[in-house]
Amino acid sequence: MAHAVSVQARGLTLAHGERVLQRNLDFDVRQGEVLAITGTSGCGKSTLLRHLVGLQAPAAGQVLHDGVDLQAADGPTLSRLRRRMGVSLQSGALWSSLSVGENLMLPLELLSDLDAAQRQARARSLLERVGLADSFDREPAALSGGMRKRAAIARSLVLQPAVLFLDEPSAGLDPVASAQLDALIDSLRRELDTAVVMVTHELASLFALADRMLFLDVQAGTMTALGAPAVLMHEGPGPVREFLGRQGRTPVRSSPASPLQPDSLTWRAEVVRP
Ligand SMILES: Nc1ncnc2c1ncn2[C@@H]1O[C@H](COP(=O)(O)OP(=O)(O)OP(=O)(O)O)[C@@H](O)[C@H]1O
Ligand SMILES: [Mg+2]
Repeated sequence: MAHAVSVQARGLTLAHGERVLQRNLDFDVRQGEVLAITGTSGCGKSTLLRHLVGLQAPAAGQVLHDGVDLQAADGPTLSRLRRRMGVSLQSGALWSSLSVGENLMLPLELLSDLDAAQRQARARSLLERVGLADSFDREPAALSGGMRKRAAIARSLVLQPAVLFLDEPSAGLDPVASAQLDALIDSLRRELDTAVVMVTHELASLFALADRMLFLDVQAGTMTALGAPAVLMHEGPGPVREFLGRQGRTPVRSSPASPLQPDSLTWRAEVVRP
């Protein structure tokens, strides 16, 4: 079955200077899906996210949004594509000198045609949606960690993006707050019909939220699996089963890492959502 595609990575190689982190990444983000990017610490998840939103240029290959290569797009096209993306980076904080409401209204002032009353109405409605109706005038420093995460997600949604990119949205939250944030992300993406690309290594979030996950293997230096977590957990390659089998879930015996051949690096378990 063909899926409507929102973002494509084609032969993508990620590097910092001379140091190549990942090679030959090939995958699509389908409209409306939650795609998790996962793998061990330092494998290049955040770097991949920065490439997907055009903050970093690939060493090789392409990232296409709506069929357009970000690196080849002219200024107006790039602006149009940027408006389709909602982004909350791992280090992304709210602007501390602005109130929470102003944090949401500033992107609208810079990038939308809405007037002041409309900007305020949209900011208030999104803050209400994430349970922060009372925090419009508060400073970010006065919020708890979980509230700040929710405010950052609300801010990433102000421009009504087609794709939301989130880097470790629940990092630093306790398990209850983390589960609540997962539920919020899930209901928001259903309501708004937004695709979500989410970096996470939280297994609970992976199983609760992700339609598919891609696994970046630090040793292989490329993506070694792409598929539904529940399928990869049983049928994925050894390192992926080992990764997914932690934390008291169905124990799986990991097979020793076998030498990887360039042509057999990518293992796929494509699962069609009903
Ligand atoms: N701006 C940079 N310049 C040079 N090296 C960098 C830069 N940013 C990250 N790196 C290095 O690239 C590697 C991958 O970093 P990245 O942040 O993408 O990993 P990650 O998978 O997101 O890790 P984590 O799970 O800890 O967030 C790391 O070794 C990191 O030190
Ligand atoms: Mg990271």
